[in-house]
Amino acid sequence: MGMDRVYNFSAGPSMLPLEVLERAGAEITNYQGSGMSVMEMSHRSKVFQKIFDDTKANFIRLFHVPDNYKVLFLQGGASGQFSMVPLNLIGRTGKADYAVTGNFASIACKEAKKYGSISLAASSEDRNHTYIPQQDQLKLDPEASYFYYCANNTIYGTEWQYVPDTGDVPIVCDMSSNFLSRPVDVSKYGVIFGGAQKNLAPAGLTIAIVREDLAGHELPYTPLMMNYKTMIDKDSMYNTPPCWCIYMLGLVLEWLDAQGGVEGMEKIKHSKAALLYDVLDNSRLFTCAAEKDSRSDMNVTFRSASEELDAKFVKEATAAGFTNLKGHRNVGGMRASIYNAMPVEGVEKLADFIRAFDKNN
Ligand SMILES: Cc1ncc(COP(=O)(O)O)c(C=O)c1O
Repeated sequence: MGMDRVYNFSAGPSMLPLEVLERAGAEITNYQGSGMSVMEMSHRSKVFQKIFDDTKANFIRLFHVPDNYKVLFLQGGASGQFSMVPLNLIGRTGKADYAVTGNFASIACKEAKKYGSISLAASSEDRNHTYIPQQDQLKLDPEASYFYYCANNTIYGTEWQYVPDTGDVPIVCDMSSNFLSRPVDVSKYGVIFGGAQKNLAPAGLTIAIVREDLAGHELPYTPLMMNYKTMIDKDSMYNTPPCWCIYMLGLVLEWLDAQGGVEGMEKIKHSKAALLYDVLDNSRLFTCAAEKDSRSDMNVTFRSASEELDAKFVKEATAAGFTNLKGHRNVGGMRASIYNAMPVEGVEKLADFIRAFDKNN
């Protein structure tokens, strides 16, 4: 760890690998002899074009994106995709299915209702989003233009452990909070998207992976900037892209590659999460918010029996160098977000801290 750096358990924006930050720091005023910062470069320059092309190629290679998909580097956040998805995809039948397993899927569902007829394929609201519905609980419409779900529910700490079977209906998935934490069979999806600010890069970049045949069927009033086809045709450079974030993504992907790619991440992410869940399950004071078979490997949500004790935990953890552990107000308690860049050591030390707190209180 660099001097004075904390273990930052923020849900996002969140930790970036220290090597990446140091490399960006070293290159910040003069990128590889260009005499300027990446922040100062024209997005049409040769130097930046190479950064862009290499980053995109590495993303495609590391995430195993098939040839009939386009990778787009967009802005507007994952929230922008809540509008872009229906605008571009719902025109086929006018209908779509949404599984609402948390806050962001709920917002996406509400937004989509502006553009078509939306049916609730599943909801976990009955138990405050503590679980993920099983395949046989999904109410699927074979005529839906697409089926939508959020792979990892950042706030509630639940994660889909399977890819839904929707027959011929294309699947749209928000992977904001578990992007590149494990291999994904992209060919099972129509669109995958996510904000970069958890696992991939600083805030400001949104990645969308779009099956090419799904683009070009947008509703007639789709804003130019929200049209997948516009961005595909111009290779994400219809307008100025988020250049700095794309450069940072490139550095994170180089780091990821050196860790064994998404396969390497998958190996450690589950053991990192298991370390925390084991300590919590064996504690006297703490209970986990999510049901066992739906627990997220990225966001570990837990609480003690009282708000006072939760507050004491957060305060003492912060003083010990474990920051941003306060849970989201919808859930209360605590949340430890342990994305790709959180070192195993940080999780081990937090597990020790939880064990000691449990013993002493
Ligand atoms: C799963 C998920 N989807 C969507 C969002 C919203 O993302 P953005 O702030 O990039 O619009 C978040 C933000 O935390 C999220 O966790």
